[in-house]
Amino acid sequence: MSATRLLLLGPPGAGKGTQAARLVARLGVPQISTGDMLRAAVAAGTEMGRQARAAMESGELVSDDVVIGVARERLAQKDAQEGFVLDGFPRTVVQAEALDAILEQTGVKLERCVAITVDEEVVVARLLRRAEIEGRTDDKEDSIRTRMCVYREQTEPLLAYYRERGVLAEVNGEGGIEEVALRIEGGLS
Ligand code: AP5
Ligand code: MG
Repeated sequence: MSATRLLLLGPPGAGKGTQAARLVARLGVPQISTGDMLRAAVAAGTEMGRQARAAMESGELVSDDVVIGVARERLAQKDAQEGFVLDGFPRTVVQAEALDAILEQTGVKLERCVAITVDEEVVVARLLRRAEIEGRTDDKEDSIRTRMCVYREQTEPLLAYYRERGVLAEVNGEGGIEEVALRIEGGLS
């Protein structure tokens, strides 16, 4: 039986979304992306979207309170009871502790944190290419650099957090999408 309560951690452009989509298709559990949910809120013009918009465009983090609320609500839904692939949450130690508390309430634990590592110049190139195709408002060079700094300062400490808990698998995210997917499968077994 493979693990079904997973987290993909990594810098912007590491391939979290790409690999999460493949994992959920294989495991039959939902992908939970706080970035996608926040972008949907911005597009729908909700109060939360209005509050999150400026931080997202500049590449800063949305407040812990807001994203923890979003994640808590999503994890409580029926389709997430047998598992989930978290993509982009948690991103701070405060969020990681909140996730532990949320899962503890239902008596489950995060089984694996897959940390996807990619060289900074590779991710910048990937995101500038995506900017031409999709036009995501935070795929501009200055926002990308800010997202990288925020990752290093606030999110990278989570590698130690999950290593200490014995659930960390580090995977090289460079190379083709298939190649990375195979490495992740290896990291999950
Ligand atoms: P979020 O949406 O999570 O963005 P991100 O972390 O910056 O990462 P991306 O989605 O850009 O990259 P990815 O790792 O998913 O890679 P992808 O598969 O797309 O967050 C956006 C913002 O929302 C944050 O900055 C923040 O403001 C806010 N936010 C979200 N969650 C939050 C939280 N928990 N707390 C606070 N704020 C939060 O791949 C990237 C590109 O590369 C694609 O074009 C893809 O096709 C391509 N690609 C993928 N794999 C490969 C490969 N192996 N080879 C070549 N190309 C590849
Ligand atoms: Mg993504």
